[in-house]
Formats: sequence, structure tokens, C-alpha cells
Amino acid sequence: MNSIKTYKKMKKDGERIVMLTAYDYPSAKYTEAAGIDIILVGDSLGMVVQGYHDTLQVTMDDMIYHTRATRRGAPDSFIVGDMPFMSYHVNTTETIKNAARFITEGGANAVKLEGGTSSRIEMIKAIRNCEIPVVAHLGLTPQSIHALGGYAIQGKSKKDFEILKEQALAVQNAGAFMLVLEGIPEQLGKEISEMLIIPTIGIGAGRYTDGQVLVYHDILGMSDIEPKFLKVYTRLAENITNSIKEFYDDVKKGNFPAEQHIYKPINNDKK
Ligand code: KIV
Repeated sequence: MNSIKTYKKMKKDGERIVMLTAYDYPSAKYTEAAGIDIILVGDSLGMVVQGYHDTLQVTMDDMIYHTRATRRGAPDSFIVGDMPFMSYHVNTTETIKNAARFITEGGANAVKLEGGTSSRIEMIKAIRNCEIPVVAHLGLTPQSIHALGGYAIQGKSKKDFEILKEQALAVQNAGAFMLVLEGIPEQLGKEISEMLIIPTIGIGAGRYTDGQVLVYHDILGMSDIEPKFLKVYTRLAENITNSIKEFYDDVKKGNFPAEQHIYKPINNDKK
């Protein structure tokens, strides 16, 4: 299984790191089979699995349930559990307890949390002090949509550009072993990636981060939205609906079950 050392070496060797989200047994199984470097049980599950408009209603119990299922599907993968909204905001005691649940109950190898302000830095340090590896997340942080005023690209002004660079250094110094950069200009993604010794993983952060992450349902064509940064590799939603329609038609027309699908009575003639 990969470890935090693997990702450090990948950055050093210039090997791009591929992260994908997974949320349950089948998605984790297919993701591990494809050889993905690192799995994120993202709180994006609130939108793509639970059908909410944003990630804010996802609970710790939801995340643990999905992390456990993901671990069952990907026993040999390095798994990061995404700490949900308000699970690392109140104080260090609650934060540590919640981070530990991902490891002890969920079977994750690390946790991720959003933000780089001083209170987040304190939480990253507290989790690291418990020997739990932390992935930081900066830029467009979806749990802050109300504070940010929506899903807007971050770091566009000179001032915000500099603030994000400062926060990137701060999360690295606090002990994060990896940084997700979301929704920022490519130049900022490049500068942060060159500045840090820890690997950066981009989503809508351009071509020069040390790795890329996308959402499972998004790349497979099962999401309602298709942002500019996304590449869709297949159209599973259409396939699924068409297959279900075929089943529906087969039953309605009496084409299913057919001869090959039925059980025959036991032959008792030999008695
Ligand atoms: O929740 C999530 O899936 C994420 C990734 C998009 C980085 O945070």
C-alpha cells in the first residue's frame, strides 16, 4: 500500500499523483482496480450520492459509513477521509475525536480539512500531534460557499494570490503532507507547487500541480453539472437509463424472463 512517503517520492521524482474520489464498495473496487494512487472519500458525496445542493449537510456519521464501505472495496489503497463541515471548527478536542474516528472506525489512512486561517492551522497541528496524517485544502473550499459568496474562482486578485501562497506555506509548516488546490488560476497553482516541498493536488488549478483529483461521478458522466475544468470519460448515466428502459420494455412485452432464465422442475422419473 502507498504511504505518505510514496507521495513525497513521487513529487521528488516528478511523477504525477492521481487521486479520485470513491464513496462505497463498488466505486472503491473499480478505482483500486484502475490503479489510482490515492482515494479520497470526499464530502462531495453530499451532492453526488445524497442529492443535496452543497456539502454542508454531510455529517460525521455519513462520512464514517461511506469510508468503511470504501475501505471494504479498496483494501490495498491509501484512503483519505474528508472531514465534514463543523467537524473541525469548534475546538481541538472535538477535532481530534472526529479525525480519529476516520482512522479507527472508517479504516482511513489520513484526513482532509479545508482552509488555511490560523484556527485551521491549530487544528492541523492538533491532528498531526495524534500521528494522523493530514491533507490540507485551499482555494475554492466548498464548505465556505456562504462566506465566499458562492463557487467563485479564488486567488484572482494580487492580494488573494499572496494570501493563498502564505496559507499554503502555513499548512505545510503545520504538518500537512499534501495540499489540495481547488478553483484557482493556473499560475497560482504553479507557483504554490514550486514553492512547497509537499505534493499539491489540483482540481481546476491548472496543469502544473503535482497531481490531479476529480470526482468519480463527474468523470463517469453521472453528474448534473459539468464545470470547465472537468473531463468526462464516459456517459454512464445514459447507459444506465437505457439499460433500465430495455429491462422495462422486456418485461412489458413478455420478452423477459425467456427460456434460459427459468428453472425446470426436478426430474423424479428415476424412482
Ligand atoms: O469532497 C471532495 O470530493 C473534494 C475534492 C473535490 C477535492 O474535496
